[in-house]
Amino acid sequence: MATTKPTLVRAVMPPTVSRFMRSNAPVRGIIGPVGSGKSTGCCWEVFRHAQEQTPGPDGKRRSRWAVIRNTYRELADTTVKTWLSWFPESLVGQFNRADMTHVVRAGDVEAEVLFRALDRPQDISKLLSLELTGAGQAGRRRYVGGHHPGHQPAG
Ligand SMILES: Nc1ncnc2c1ncn2[C@@H]1O[C@H](COP(=O)(O)OP(=O)(O)OP(=O)(O)O)[C@@H](O)[C@H]1O
Ligand SMILES: [Mg+2]
Repeated sequence: MATTKPTLVRAVMPPTVSRFMRSNAPVRGIIGPVGSGKSTGCCWEVFRHAQEQTPGPDGKRRSRWAVIRNTYRELADTTVKTWLSWFPESLVGQFNRADMTHVVRAGDVEAEVLFRALDRPQDISKLLSLELTGAGQAGRRRYVGGHHPGHQPAG
């Protein structure tokens, strides 16, 4: 029989990342120094919400997410690597490199995570037509001209 008990995973986060993760605001951003755990926090944030999803009739907690970067290159070189370092294929299922999608199966969680780049305008319209539980954009913002606020934005 399918279980409806939540799958509990504990992850210890630095204070700012922890504050970001405790918020349930529909739109959130995180900035901080290089290597301060921003990307890691965002990865776990997807999983946290996947665990909180109401189970379907078969007991599975299904959700669909998009992780977005400006270019395919950045997605493949950094974002997917960070994701797979926390959710390795050997534990949660194979990452489909052809369509850049990872179906994560862990206990009663079944989360589909779509990694998408915004290289081309048609990619943006495709993204808008997806039925998503949530989406996150990763990547550095470059400040061109004007005053540099002195922050290292989310990477
Ligand atoms: N909560 C955590 N527990 C253990 N290790 C962590 C944690 N958060 C981050 N790390 C490790 O610290 C390193 C940097 O983390 P991460 O890539 O998430 O930082 P970042 O702020 O996104 O970095 P960048 O500014 O380069 O994008 C990685 O090696 C990651 O595995
Ligand atoms: Mg990062």
